[in-house]
Amino acid sequence: MRERPYTLLSCCVSIDGYIGSAASRLLLSNDADFDRVDAVRASCDAILVGAETVRVDNPRLIVRSEARRDERAARGLPESPIKVTVTRRAELDARADFFSVGDTEKIVYCASPRAADARGRLGRVATVVDAGDNVEMRALSTDLAARGIDRLMVEGGGTVHTQFLTDDLVDELQLTVAPVFVGDSDATRFVRDGLFPWNPARRAELVDVQKLGDVVLLRYALSSRFQEAQRGNGC
Ligand SMILES: NC(=O)c1ccc[n+]([C@@H]2O[C@H](COP(=O)([O-])OP(=O)(O)OC[C@H]3O[C@@H](n4cnc5c(N)ncnc54)[C@H](OP(=O)(O)O)[C@@H]3O)[C@@H](O)[C@H]2O)c1
Repeated sequence: MRERPYTLLSCCVSIDGYIGSAASRLLLSNDADFDRVDAVRASCDAILVGAETVRVDNPRLIVRSEARRDERAARGLPESPIKVTVTRRAELDARADFFSVGDTEKIVYCASPRAADARGRLGRVATVVDAGDNVEMRALSTDLAARGIDRLMVEGGGTVHTQFLTDDLVDELQLTVAPVFVGDSDATRFVRDGLFPWNPARRAELVDVQKLGDVVLLRYALSSRFQEAQRGNGC
């Protein structure tokens, strides 16, 4: 068993670096990219988003393509990856699509002070893990590995991205840039302030660029595990 899952962070940003509007869900990407993301989802064991993304976007986080779901089922996997979220406040609605859509397992990592509350509210629809006084993404990753998660996809939002990146837990970054500006500093940016391992003195490695209609996909290798994963895939 690996100490932590291979971790792929996938995100779509505006030209000016935002991932969401201050008021509502913002659709930045296009159909070709949504389909690419669906294929990436289908290749993962679990998908993680922050609680604010669950509240604001109400995402389903399932594999949309029937062919991909069938292919997973044929390999003895659930049709869609396990869904994972993190919360301190536990203010999550059990009727949200995150919990109600798809037969796959849902896991909520909750900080200790509200873990009992989270169990009361979500215990019917999810496995609630008391993650200690503060949910640390490294400990969470180790716990996911122990639950058999070998490949994790992190899908937002900015607060969660920041922690995975500053903790150096991301092996691969897939960043799509959409041809729009948001222009509102109250909107959510790709990341918040932090000490990132990549900076002018240590640049990230760009491994691929793809044009998908009007968006561009930038693929970065952020750890040596990226190359190992490519060899494992026969690439
Ligand atoms: N463009 C894209 O690809 C994309 C993808 C996903 C999301 N988004 C956008 O991103 C925005 C949301 O991003 P965000 O940065 O505001 O929120 P977020 O990262 O989705 O979630 C933040 C929340 O997660 C919980 N959390 C995070 N770290 C935690 C920790 N260490 N311990 C315990 N709980 C923790 C807290 O939940 P509680 O408040 O419940 O305690 C926190 O408020 C939305 O606008 C959404 O539309 C965009």
